[in-house]
Amino acid sequence: MPENILISVPRAAPAAPSSKLAVLASGRGSNFQRLAAASAEGELRARIVGLVCNNAGAGCLSVADEFGIPSAVIDHRAFDSRDEFDAAVVAQLRAWSPDLVVMAGWMRIATPTLVDAFHDRIVNIHPSLLPSFRGMNAVRQALDAGVTVAGCTVHVVRLEVDGGPIIGQAVVPVLDDDDEGTLHARIQLAEHQLYPAAVDAYLGRLSNVTTKHG
Ligand code: GRF
Repeated sequence: MPENILISVPRAAPAAPSSKLAVLASGRGSNFQRLAAASAEGELRARIVGLVCNNAGAGCLSVADEFGIPSAVIDHRAFDSRDEFDAAVVAQLRAWSPDLVVMAGWMRIATPTLVDAFHDRIVNIHPSLLPSFRGMNAVRQALDAGVTVAGCTVHVVRLEVDGGPIIGQAVVPVLDDDDEGTLHARIQLAEHQLYPAAVDAYLGRLSNVTTKHG
């Protein structure tokens, strides 16, 4: 593990080995790549059954090809409203029957159509120590505030942007000469450690609930 990263994810019962993940991503896909690698290596006890991307040509689509993961491009620009876009995303996700939907750099604001379709079953990673610095430009916000530690948070998705229950966090130092690029790069190293561990732990919690309540 890279130095100077402190990760906190509460321990949980093992996930059901047959858990299925679907991923939503818009860009480069480095977190998706880490999740796919962790799944292939057994560090993340779940398999990724599909990727939805809203940008044709995004790097995450190449990652899907590399790992043999089915992918679908649903371009938000082809829809009249956020709601209609999310309805198309939900239809694609349902075709894969995922146990959990994982946002990995999904640059669209979720509507009730998406959030209610998978209540408690969508998670996101955000490049700040929530509840500080929600929304866009979180790393810039942290630097402007003069914080001396920064990090990332995995949380359950609710309608409030970056506002759901926290699953796990990782902390990195802010260095005197950091700019947005250097700090974001350090936070991303932490994200790549945190996300597989947090998803695995959360799947364990979900499978406990399913076992106890039917
Ligand atoms: C990450 O920094 C994540 O915190 C934010 O979007 C970025 C996605 O990066 N939500 P990548 O596409 O996974 O490299």
